[in-house]
Amino acid sequence: MACATDVARQFLPCVQPVPSSMGGETARSINLTCNGLSPPQPQYNAENNHDQDTTVATRVLIIGATGFIGRFVAEASVKSGRPTYALVRPTTLSSKPKVIQSLVDSGIQVVYGCLHDHNSLVKAIRQVDVVISTVGGALILDQLKIVDAIKEVGTVKRFLPSEFGHDVDRADPVEPALSFYIEKRKVRRAVEEAKIPYTYICCNSIAGWPYYYHTHPTELPPPKEQFEIYGDGSVKAFFVTGDDIGAYTMKAVDDPRTLNKSIHFRPPKNFLNLNELADIWENKINRTLPRVSVSAEDLVMIAKANFMPSSIVAALTHDIFINGCQFKFPIQEPHHVEACELYPDIKYTTMEDFFQGYL
Ligand SMILES: NC(=O)c1ccc[n+]([C@@H]2O[C@H](COP(=O)([O-])OP(=O)(O)OC[C@H]3O[C@@H](n4cnc5c(N)ncnc54)[C@H](OP(=O)(O)O)[C@@H]3O)[C@@H](O)[C@H]2O)c1
Repeated sequence: MACATDVARQFLPCVQPVPSSMGGETARSINLTCNGLSPPQPQYNAENNHDQDTTVATRVLIIGATGFIGRFVAEASVKSGRPTYALVRPTTLSSKPKVIQSLVDSGIQVVYGCLHDHNSLVKAIRQVDVVISTVGGALILDQLKIVDAIKEVGTVKRFLPSEFGHDVDRADPVEPALSFYIEKRKVRRAVEEAKIPYTYICCNSIAGWPYYYHTHPTELPPPKEQFEIYGDGSVKAFFVTGDDIGAYTMKAVDDPRTLNKSIHFRPPKNFLNLNELADIWENKINRTLPRVSVSAEDLVMIAKANFMPSSIVAALTHDIFINGCQFKFPIQEPHHVEACELYPDIKYTTMEDFFQGYL
C-alpha cells in the first residue's frame, strides 16, 4: 500500500481546489488514511445511470493518469473541456513531481488516494460521472476494488476499465499474455455482473515501431540499424497514436452509442503490416535498413521464458503479427462499434505523419 500522507502534505500547495459546484469538496480534504470506516452502502442503481444528461459537462476521474496511456487520456479529457480529476498516489508526488505538476498545469484536479484505500476511491468517485482506469498490467485484478467503490457510490454513469488493447474476450494469445487477458476478462465480468454502465476501449496497437520487448513503443524511435520483422512481415495491424487514443476515448465516454459496448479503433490508413511500416520509415530516413526475421517460434520461446514484462509483450507481438488477432473478426452491433465510423470528425494521425516526428 502506498498512502504516505507526509509526502502528500509537502506538495499540497500545488493541488487545486475542486470547485464547490463539483461536489463541494476540495482535493485537500481527500482522506488519505487507509483504514477509515466505510460509509453505509447505497444500492447501485444502474438503470438511473443510463440516462446521460448531455447538457452538463461530464466530470471524469482518471485512475492512472501519471502512467503511459493515462497521460494521453488525461490530456485529451482536459482538451475536451470536461472537468477532469486524477487519482494520484501520495508517493507519486516524490517519484514523478514534474508529471503531477504538468497535470495540474493543464487544468486537472489532482486528488490523492490509491487503489488499496477504499475511502479515498469512494471520495474521488463521488465527485464524477465517468471513471476511467488506466492502471498498468500488474494491477488489473486490483480494479475489482474500483468496481466495489463504484457500486458503493451508485451514481457513476460510465466506467472504462483498463483495457486499451485488444478485445480480450476474442483474442487468444499464448501465455503469459493469456493469463493477463483472463484477468482483464474477470474485470469485465465483474463490471457486467454489477450492472455498471461500461465501455471497453479496444484501441489496438499504439503507434510506434512495435518492439517485441518494450511495453511502451512510443518511447523509442523506430530502428536506425535494422528492422526485426516478425514472421514474413505480411500480417497487418492497426496503429493509433497516443493522442488519438485519448481523443477517441473521450468521444466515447458519454456517447450513448458506446454504452455497454466495446469500441474498436481501426483507422483504415494505419492498417499496415511490418514491411509497409518499414517502407514508410525508410522513405523518411532516405535509406534502406536490413530486415532480420524473428520467427513465430522465436517469439513463443521468448514468451515461454516468462520474463516480465517482455514475455507478455512477445506473446502479444506473436498474437498481432503472426496470428493477426486484430482483424480476424468483424465489428458487429449490438455489442461492438468502430471509432472512425462513429467519429469521422476526428482527423487521425497517419503513421506517415507520426514517423515524421522522429526525424
Ligand atoms: N495498446 C497498446 O499498445 C498498449 C501499450 C501499453 C499499455 N497498454 C494498456 O494500457 C493500460 C495501462 O498500461 P500502462 O502501460 O499505461 O500503465 P503504466 O504506465 O504502468 O501506468 C500505471 C498507472 O497506474 C498508477 N497506479 C499504480 N498503482 C496504483 C495504485 N495503487 N493506486 C492508484 N494508481 C496506481 C500508476 O501510478 P504511478 O505513476 O504512481 O506509478 C500509473 O499512473 C493497460 O491495460 C495496458 O495493457 C496498451
